[in-house]
Amino acid sequence: MERTKLSDNLSFSRIIQGFWRLTSWNLTSKQLVNFIEERVDLGVTTFDTAEIYGRGDAEIQLGEALKLKPELRSKIEIVTKTNISIDQSEETSFGYYDSRYDRIINSCKKSIKNMNCNYIDLYLIHREDPCIDFKEVARALNDLKEMGLVKEIGVSNFDPMKFKCLYDLTNKSLVTNQIEVNPQCFEHFDSGMIDYLTYKGIHPMFYSPVSQGLLFTSDEDIYLNSRILLSKLATKYNTTVATLVYAWLMYHPVSGMPIVGSKNIERIKEAINAFDIKLDHVDWYKIYTSSKQKVLR
Ligand SMILES: NC(=O)c1ccc[n+]([C@@H]2O[C@H](COP(=O)([O-])OP(=O)(O)OC[C@H]3O[C@@H](n4cnc5c(N)ncnc54)[C@H](OP(=O)(O)O)[C@@H]3O)[C@@H](O)[C@H]2O)c1
Repeated sequence: MERTKLSDNLSFSRIIQGFWRLTSWNLTSKQLVNFIEERVDLGVTTFDTAEIYGRGDAEIQLGEALKLKPELRSKIEIVTKTNISIDQSEETSFGYYDSRYDRIINSCKKSIKNMNCNYIDLYLIHREDPCIDFKEVARALNDLKEMGLVKEIGVSNFDPMKFKCLYDLTNKSLVTNQIEVNPQCFEHFDSGMIDYLTYKGIHPMFYSPVSQGLLFTSDEDIYLNSRILLSKLATKYNTTVATLVYAWLMYHPVSGMPIVGSKNIERIKEAINAFDIKLDHVDWYKIYTSSKQKVLR
């Protein structure tokens, strides 16, 4: 398995396992230990979660697995995220952001306790926040590093301007931006975020690489169009549609790390198979335009 160096202090497996849906998989702690070990055996050592996943239960479930098998901790890297809050006082709960200093410090400590993990390898601000004080966020992230509670810091879903604000205020120590990239989603190509990260040599984490599975199931035009083109190319490369998408994602010079959201080990293997695909340069553009949302000029 290729590894990606995020800093002198931290490297990740190029393919990452995502835990957004962990609580819906109904795994016992023992089954989750096995789940993690199976991936570690394949070289997938990095696991992505968030304070908000399963309303806190995803971190707790991971913590129970690590309690059962503490020696796993040194074999894996844990990514988690903060700043999404839910106000339960309303009849229907209301989601909002809280990126204030105390909230970040306390939620990091709580995540470490919930996950029984002693420290977090990479701690991310989960979403852009319209009421953010970048100086306070930078102070909190820097303090967490100083306290040894997190090894490295980063963000998720940030646009270039917001990324640059926090990057400068953290002494240029953000090591990633976790963003959605797949053949249907172009937000970060269009904003220049991917260009900026390429220029700075910062490697993004790519979430929803197969568009949350819609690439295989939806009959909406943007998915169907891509599916038709990708199926043709899959025959050319003697591979699967999913493997081709991972090859497309990893071909880009920004050297991003796809996060697989599936519970199924065979899907992880499909991602790993992408290392064997030598994608023709022209085919990268065919996949980029396959949904028919993009026209090259
Ligand atoms: N930072 C953020 O805001 C953010 C947002 C979303 C996600 N994430 C992270 O990124 C991870 C991945 O995102 P995602 O879950 O949306 O990604 P995804 O890998 O695009 O989607 C996974 C879903 O697609 C289904 N699927 C069907 N065929 C598949 C195939 N061939 N390969 C892979 N999956 C297939 C899976 O079902 P089966 O399980 O039945 O295979 C699963 O329900 C999450 O777990 C989370 O850690 C972060």
